[in-house]
Amino acid sequence: MCGIVAYVGPKEAYPVILKGLKRLEYRGYDSSGVALLDKELKIYKKKGKVAELEESLVGKDLHAHIGIGHTRWATHGEPNDRNAHPHLSASGKLAMIHNGIIENYAQLKQELLKKGYEFKSDTDTEVLLNFIDDIRENNQCSLEEAVRIALKRVVGAYVIIIVDQESPDTLIAARKGSPLVIGIGKDEHFLASDASPIIEYTKEVVYVNDYELAIIKPDELVLKNLGNEKLTPFVQKLDIELAAIEKGGYEHFMLKEIFEQPHTIYDCLRGRLDLSNGQVKMAGVQQNIEQLKNANRIIMVACGTSWHAGLVAEYIFEELCRIPVEVEYASEFRYRNPVIHPGDVIVAISQSGETADTLVAIEKAKEQGAFIFGVLNVVGSSIARASHSGAYTHAGPEIGVASTKAFTAQLAVLTMIALKLAKEKGTIDAARYNNLLHELHAIPEKVEVVLQQKDKIQAIAAKYSNANDFLYLGRGYNFPVALEGALKTKEISYIHAEGYPAAEMKHGPIALVDETLPVVFVATKDAYHEKIVSNIQEIKARKGKVLAVITEGDEIISQLSDDIMVVPEADEIVAPMLNVIPMQLLAYYIGVSKGLDVDKPRNLAKSVTVE
Ligand code: M6R
Repeated sequence: MCGIVAYVGPKEAYPVILKGLKRLEYRGYDSSGVALLDKELKIYKKKGKVAELEESLVGKDLHAHIGIGHTRWATHGEPNDRNAHPHLSASGKLAMIHNGIIENYAQLKQELLKKGYEFKSDTDTEVLLNFIDDIRENNQCSLEEAVRIALKRVVGAYVIIIVDQESPDTLIAARKGSPLVIGIGKDEHFLASDASPIIEYTKEVVYVNDYELAIIKPDELVLKNLGNEKLTPFVQKLDIELAAIEKGGYEHFMLKEIFEQPHTIYDCLRGRLDLSNGQVKMAGVQQNIEQLKNANRIIMVACGTSWHAGLVAEYIFEELCRIPVEVEYASEFRYRNPVIHPGDVIVAISQSGETADTLVAIEKAKEQGAFIFGVLNVVGSSIARASHSGAYTHAGPEIGVASTKAFTAQLAVLTMIALKLAKEKGTIDAARYNNLLHELHAIPEKVEVVLQQKDKIQAIAAKYSNANDFLYLGRGYNFPVALEGALKTKEISYIHAEGYPAAEMKHGPIALVDETLPVVFVATKDAYHEKIVSNIQEIKARKGKVLAVITEGDEIISQLSDDIMVVPEADEIVAPMLNVIPMQLLAYYIGVSKGLDVDKPRNLAKSVTVE
């Protein structure tokens, strides 16, 4: 949530910051702004997308070698010019950008109001900035010292970057709970919420940790803790290429990412699935094999699409490993008082690795002795660092706000883990195990086949794009796929959609069915096939429109359906990786046919770093 970017060095700061903001726009796009310091501090901000800011700045003198920029996902205060970042301190000397939430801002604001401060915005950020400036003024101390004192009083999550009119070559940054990466160039530094604005200039980066403060000049990076002790920055090499974060000829990132799935799933399996030796090689699992295979219980903790991956995994782990599994919304788990035993394993599933609820949930579970295993896409992310061990999904940067390729990669990783544990535990027979290894191996090619139906799915999307509601139904492994289909439709096309277990439909949602309601059945051939045929009949009997995802050659459901989307035959355990693709394409094409911005759907943000 919120993207931040900053630059100090010999280049013109504005173009670097603007390009960076465009790359980070997936994190929030309610408003954006920049602060540039040349002889004086200039702040420009605008409601709406970064392109609107850019347009409003044409012809302005934007010369500066130091600056900060922000793209916002509103928390405190509606999205407008006033609440956009950067904010200027009452003294006019400091400008600040912030990602996160200052939970005790109301109390700090009261203190400042009593001192006569006035506020131009409704944000918690402006409060924190003035709080810092006030400390600096009263204590006659450096900005660095004032930030340190202020942050000791702050409750909440933040990354802040401050530019000070009186130190025109220095940026001060600090982090707790929200991500911050510093790119190291030749006599220049780049700061951002993730590496995407940085990789064009340098591959050497430092991930700032919680409770750390960075003092950054063109040729110097000093890292300290809040106790003012110097730390040695841990410089890492980025392993992503620029092409991975560009659209590469596709109209949208979402479409590109849907079409990348044969490769991303392949990349995820590569080096891990060893067919000739009948092995799954996963270092993070192997190193903790006793802990994992002897788990009393596995608790999958995640949000949104990642939670759906957890639900599919629940079915797989229980079936193959005979370990009880619970799947928890991180936001609920963190606030209730869950019973956790030392033998419990928490599997944290997250594309971004920055989701605030998931991060706090695992930290709480860790305090109670649970072992934390992360299934994550972003290398070096906060959840990766907070986990005891884990496995990366290797799906590459996912820019479209709707998660697509991350989901299928999560399923691939979770299936491999389940297979490895099942073999270790002896809960799977050799024939089934080997067959599933081959089934997994065949998935990338089968995804290619599903993608060939894009035109057909586009035509189906056009036919139903005026619907007011959609119902998505599935059973067994396909129930979470139905949930995922409904989520994609809501996010991308703004059409109300509900996902339900197909049999549960007659306990309520069936009341919605009439000739205007499209009902999407995820009805591929599995153990529930006959049952779902009956569920389809129940919808047809009430004149609902049936769109079905079916296995190639399924004449029975084909004849019952108004429209079909066909997938190749696959074992039910790996089938969700195929069955979700038509759901992704359907939602995408409905969104496009309605003229919506599918990469940046309204009100959403890619990385939800606020609770
Ligand atoms: O980065 P994470 O996987 O932790 O994100 C979790 C959800 O915020 C995310 O899956 C969200 O639901 C997506 N917009 C779904 O498309």
